[in-house]
Amino acid sequence: MNDSALLANYSRAPVRFVAGEGCYLIDERGRRYLDAIAGIAVCALGHAHPGIAEAVARQAKTLVHASNLYYHEPSGELAGELTRRSGFARAFFCNSGTEANEAAIKLARKAAYRRGESERTTILAFSGGFHGRTLGALAATANPEYKVGFEPLPAGFAWAPFNDVAALDAAIDERTAACIVEPVQGESGVHPASAEFLAELRRLCSERGALLIFDEVQCGMGRLGNLFAFESVGVRPDLVTMAKALGNGLPIGAMLVDGALADALQPGDHGSTFGGSPVSAAAALAHLQIRDELDLDRHVRSVGEYAFAQLSMLAQGFPAHFEAPRGRGLLLGLPVREPYRAAELAGEAREQGLLLGVGGGNTLRLAPPLIVTAAEIDRIIETIGIVAAGMGVLAAK
Ligand SMILES: Cc1ncc(COP(=O)(O)O)c(C=O)c1O
Repeated sequence: MNDSALLANYSRAPVRFVAGEGCYLIDERGRRYLDAIAGIAVCALGHAHPGIAEAVARQAKTLVHASNLYYHEPSGELAGELTRRSGFARAFFCNSGTEANEAAIKLARKAAYRRGESERTTILAFSGGFHGRTLGALAATANPEYKVGFEPLPAGFAWAPFNDVAALDAAIDERTAACIVEPVQGESGVHPASAEFLAELRRLCSERGALLIFDEVQCGMGRLGNLFAFESVGVRPDLVTMAKALGNGLPIGAMLVDGALADALQPGDHGSTFGGSPVSAAAALAHLQIRDELDLDRHVRSVGEYAFAQLSMLAQGFPAHFEAPRGRGLLLGLPVREPYRAAELAGEAREQGLLLGVGGGNTLRLAPPLIVTAAEIDRIIETIGIVAAGMGVLAAK
């Protein structure tokens, strides 16, 4: 492996993938790995989906880039599809999740400014939340580990404890421009927001003139069993950010905005050279069409329930290794008990041909392609069991 010219900012696993097919990645020796993390919740339709490949190839042969100086069909059509399906009024496109959140933060502040409330600048985020690596999104991210050495970060961010309904009252005030929350936290180790927490957050935002931003970058695009996470949790935000699975592997992010905010950003206020580029937008359009044909939401709900039940049984079978699972749909976390380490278990699983994610708080994270079958779930569970058994029972410290 010749990675010496790549910046050393990732701890890459010692494996080289050369191809993908459905729920599998294939290394240079032809070994197939069942992918239970899908490029970190990206390849919802699996790897190298022929419908996505065809849409990308067709678009690449027609128009790859024109910039946002001009209208082009793919991004216009995609905005139409996303707004029609969500009931939001407008879409802005960028290239990644962190950029979608930057756009939402900027829009929230500008909307307040346009209303004459220039003091209303605070972005309230929550413990455990992860919103991206650019400076604004990083400032919103609560975990101090991500921030060490990068200060000073932009000012005007505050945090409240996640899922603490009582703490919201003091946290949201006349300076709060927006609250940003993941309906199901991914990076923190898969923690769903409670229904009461989201309902009270919505109520207080509306009452106090703050916008509610749902960061659906990881938990959206069907992962919870509805196209949008807000549909699964039953609370409607003012802004939604998405990325990851939207282009099924092609880089594209989006911010959807409510009608009342449609004019908050005016020409020149914000932009992106590549945002919503024709090829990425064509991939996202194909993704939406294919997921309809597959009735993917129904599939995710049933296979997600099955996976949760199987993980629960696994945790019961290995009480020294695991706690009860968390999550919803096909975003699932299996907390690992000390002295076992999730990263070590994931490494062993890779040796057995299974790719798992690792989240905060020593958690195994499962975010497989949404097309995963019950038989593949069985293989995932079986392999985790084999790996756990192979580690024996170590005494907790
Ligand atoms: C909830 C959430 N928001 C934002 C991001 C940042 O997305 P990106 O890596 O595309 O910038 C992530 C990435 O993991 C995420 O999980």
